[in-house]
Amino acid sequence: MHSQLSPTPFLPTRAVIRSIIPMSTDNYLFQFRIDEPGDLVNCAPGQFVQLWIPGAGEAPISVCSGEIDGVLELCVRKTGRVTDALFNLNEGDWVGIRGPYGTGFPVDEYRGKDLVLIAGGLGIAPVRSLLQYVLNHREEFGKLTLIYGMRHSQQLLFRQELKVLLRRQDMHVYIAAEEVVGPDLPSVSWQLGRVTDMIKLAEIDEGFLSAICGPPVMYKFVVAELLKKGLKDNNIWLSLERHMKCAVGKCGHCFVGGTFTCREGPVFRMDTLRFLPEVIECS
Ligand SMILES: Cc1cc2nc3c(=O)[nH]c(=O)nc-3n(C[C@H](O)[C@H](O)[C@H](O)COP(=O)(O)OP(=O)(O)OC[C@H]3O[C@@H](n4cnc5c(N)ncnc54)[C@H](O)[C@@H]3O)c2cc1C
Ligand code: FES
Repeated sequence: MHSQLSPTPFLPTRAVIRSIIPMSTDNYLFQFRIDEPGDLVNCAPGQFVQLWIPGAGEAPISVCSGEIDGVLELCVRKTGRVTDALFNLNEGDWVGIRGPYGTGFPVDEYRGKDLVLIAGGLGIAPVRSLLQYVLNHREEFGKLTLIYGMRHSQQLLFRQELKVLLRRQDMHVYIAAEEVVGPDLPSVSWQLGRVTDMIKLAEIDEGFLSAICGPPVMYKFVVAELLKKGLKDNNIWLSLERHMKCAVGKCGHCFVGGTFTCREGPVFRMDTLRFLPEVIECS
């Protein structure tokens, strides 16, 4: 499932914006049509691409779609130079995309096992690519639980998709916010609290494997709860974001604890991170 680097890793391919779907005030889902996807067709859930906006620069963005068949989806937060420039574009405009890069989630290890996917905030973007993959091959996986948390209910992304998921009989979905407000609440079964509270509630045992992506502050607490449920370090995978520039192990921007996170990450297994205390705070 893991793809090889393109023989021309610095060369972006042209991607035309097919549609722009607002998800919240500062998070939009961009769907791109890519006529020459190259290695992108072999993209594994959890990998990322380098998004290039001419005149603005490049930024790493997680692939958000399960399998890429001419259309690539990226869920982007407007946060700085490159993402601001993307938000100024319209349908029909083009950008450059190179990749995919990094390690993805270990789909082959997950196959046949019970799975808990845990996302905090925008961490839902790479988790969604794995979720879509699992749902497209549902009979190949065991029990499936999705836990998705955010600070405020208005930050919920993929609202319509989650409503559909909540009705499925073959998975459990927990959606948690620390603050739930608003007259326009959809028929989403909100839980008040954090993802860690949802892990306590969920029927997860030592047989589960996990995939986690969220803000760095979340990891220590999520891992601690999973360990209490009986999971071992080698059943826990986390996707980590570091500052990146080249994405191919050349510039050193992402180098931490002797590791190029652009090449050896962003997805790491927890037992390997125990030896990289600078990457996340391990208890
Ligand atoms: C593997 C990976 C996957 C990612 N996936 C996604 C994704 O799916 N969606 C998404 O939206 N983002 C994602 N990101 C994050 C995204 O790459 C960063 O937010 C990126 O910096 C955006 O680029 P920008 O040019 O728009 O913002 P920048 O201009 O780089 O600004 C980003 C933030 O850094 C601050 N900043 C900029 N320059 C400085 C400085 N000199 N000193 C201090 N602060 C500064 C800005 O104020 C802003 O808050 C991912 C990152 C990685 C590494
Ligand atoms: S981003 Fe350049 S070495 Fe990793």
